[in-house]
Amino acid sequence: MGYGGVVRVSTGIRELDDALEGGVPRGSWVAITGEPGTGKSIMCMHFAWAGLNAGDPVVYVTTEAEFRDVMRQARMFGMDFEKFKTYDIASRAEPGETPNIVVIDIFGLLKIARQLSESQEEQGEEVARRRRFAVLDIETLTAAIHEAYRILGVLREEKARTPYRHVRLIIDSISAFWADKPAMARKYSYELKIATHRENVTAYLVSQYAMTTKSTFGFGLEHIADGVLHLWMDDVESSKEVRRYMIIKKMRMTNHARTAFKLEIIPGKGVVLEKLR
Ligand SMILES: Nc1ncnc2c1ncn2[C@@H]1O[C@H](COP(=O)(O)OP(=O)(O)OP(=O)(O)O)[C@@H](O)[C@H]1O
Ligand SMILES: [Mg+2]
Repeated sequence: MGYGGVVRVSTGIRELDDALEGGVPRGSWVAITGEPGTGKSIMCMHFAWAGLNAGDPVVYVTTEAEFRDVMRQARMFGMDFEKFKTYDIASRAEPGETPNIVVIDIFGLLKIARQLSESQEEQGEEVARRRRFAVLDIETLTAAIHEAYRILGVLREEKARTPYRHVRLIIDSISAFWADKPAMARKYSYELKIATHRENVTAYLVSQYAMTTKSTFGFGLEHIADGVLHLWMDDVESSKEVRRYMIIKKMRMTNHARTAFKLEIIPGKGVVLEKLR
């Protein structure tokens, strides 16, 4: 327990924890924003890895890659997810024992979308009223996350929405869910927060940054989020090298560092931050 009763959750990156009075407040929604290649996905891996090592159940949504590739990338930074029990929600077999991490990639979302569409038939919904759930639909995502909670055994009863113990949720990326309707970003992130967010869930949500407009792809998430970690790089054409940075733009209930960090991605280690100046 930290200052004023705020429980801190480790980000898995030491310098970042130090800059956040120990970590992100438990139960917060943290948006990770930034352009391609700035380190957003690797920050997610650190967050998941820290959770697994702390005994937290993890829900890992990845729309960008198959989880196999996430694991392969993480291993390059000394994070061996294979040491933990992983269950892929797309898998046909029920999990034998309670997993440590439930993975939801595009195939998992496809399975859930199909189940949602079919369950209306079973419930005798009129054909005219039935809808097809899309893979990249906030409702599909919400249902998949709820299913992951069930598999992780963190719900006291099937219908409960609130995990009774602390869970880490990673969504990489949330932008994928409103890619074709960016104007809906605020509404969707709000709906998602209402549907899945509880005090026992600490979440990382990756939001891609549209370089052309210099605004996050999906205006609104940053207002709804409790914290924003923003990543960027110098213009590569003028600097002629990749120089990455990270700044804590906002973190509620935290007297956080207010200057940027240089962000390096180092083999065997992953993201390493260094104070500027
Ligand atoms: N083994 C490695 N050693 C050092 N750097 C690496 C290694 N593997 C990947 N990287 C660096 O990490 C970068 C990718 O970081 P990451 O996937 O976190 O970016 P991102 O912000 O999620 O990008 P996107 O928006 O495209 O998903 C690569 O472009 C590369 O520069
Ligand atoms: Mg990424």
